Amino acid sequence: MVKTIEWFDGKVRMLDQTLLPREVKYIDCADYHMVAECIKKLCIRGAPAIGIAAAMGIALGAQEIKAKDFNEFMKGLETVFSELLSTRPTAVNIQWAVERMRKFLAERKNGPVDKLKTLLIEESNRVLNEDIEINRAIGKWGSQFIKDGDTIITHCNAGSLATGGYGTATGPIRVAVEQGKKIQVIADETRPVLQGCRLTAWELMEDNIPVTLITDNTAGAILRTGEIKLAIVGTDRTVANGDVANKIGTYSLAVLCKENGVPFYVAAPLSSIDFSIPSGEFIPIEERGPEEVTHIFGCHIAPQGVKVRNLAFDVTPAKYVTGIITEKGVFRPEDLHKLNEKGADLDSIMLKAK
Ligand code: MRU
Repeated sequence: MVKTIEWFDGKVRMLDQTLLPREVKYIDCADYHMVAECIKKLCIRGAPAIGIAAAMGIALGAQEIKAKDFNEFMKGLETVFSELLSTRPTAVNIQWAVERMRKFLAERKNGPVDKLKTLLIEESNRVLNEDIEINRAIGKWGSQFIKDGDTIITHCNAGSLATGGYGTATGPIRVAVEQGKKIQVIADETRPVLQGCRLTAWELMEDNIPVTLITDNTAGAILRTGEIKLAIVGTDRTVANGDVANKIGTYSLAVLCKENGVPFYVAAPLSSIDFSIPSGEFIPIEERGPEEVTHIFGCHIAPQGVKVRNLAFDVTPAKYVTGIITEKGVFRPEDLHKLNEKGADLDSIMLKAK
C-alpha cells in the first residue's frame, strides 16, 4: 500500500496527489507554511490525511519557535494553528488535530519547551499510526455488510491516499477482500478534480482490487439495474444529527441509492464527527476556484468568462444514510449522538448485518 504521509529526515514527506496517476512523486515540506500550501493545493487531501498533515505541520512549526517560556511558545504556536486552520474549512479533522495538539501541550505545560518540541513530533506520528488502526477497525465493522460477489459503489477517494493508510470507505472493502470475498468496486470519477478516477481507481488497481470507473452521470443507470448492492463513501464532517458532508455529488448518489433500494453507508472515524454542530446546514462548505471547472489539466474547456460555481462538498441529510461506520461500530444516523454520551450502551444500538 502506498505511503500518503510520513516524517522523513526532519521534514514532512507527502505524496503529491495532484500528479497521480501519471507520476508518483513525493514533496518534502521543510516548514509549516509549505504543509499549509500543500493542503490548499490538494497535494494532500482527504479529511483524515489533512488532519495528520496538520498535526505534523504543528510539530514542524514548533521546531522554528525560539521561545523558552511555555506561554511564549504557545503564542508562537497560535500563529501556526491559524494558518493551518485557514487552509480548508469543511473537513473537521484539521480542527480536531489542532485541539488534540493543544490539549497534549496543556497537559505538559511544566515540561521544558525543547522537550515539548520532540514530544510533538512523537505525538504527530501517533496521530498517523492511530489513524491506520482506526481504518482497520472501520474495515472490520463495515465488512459484515459486504457479501461474497457484491458490487460496491464509492465516490471521490476515501482510500489509503485520503488517510494515513488503508482508507475509511475502502477499509470494509479491503477487509472483505482479505476475508476472501470476491467483490467488485465501482468508482465514480468525481468531477471536477477527478479523485475517483485519478486516485481511487489507481490505488485499488495497485492493490489488485477489481475496480470499474464510471462517469458521475452513469451511477443512476447502473443502480437501476440492481447490480450494485451497497454504497460506501467517506465524510469530511458528519454532525450530531447524522447529516454528512462529503465530496460534491455524494448527495446525488445517496438520493439515487434510496430511490433504488441500495443501502448507503458512510465510513466516519470519530475524528471526522463534529458533535458541536447540530445539523448539516451549519457545516461550512468550501467553494474553490473556477479553473477546476473551466479547465482540465491546464486545457480550457469552457467558454471564456463563463460564470462558475464550484462547491467542493455537499451535505447528505441523515434520512438517506443507512449506517455510519465508525471505529466503535456501525450506527444509525439518529443514534450517532449517543457516541458522545457518557455511559451510553453502544452495543444495544449497534447495527448488525442480518
Ligand atoms: O476535496 P478532497 O479530495 O479533500 O475531498 C475528499 C473527500 O470528500 C473524502 O471523501 C473525505 O475527505 C473522506 S476521506 C477518508
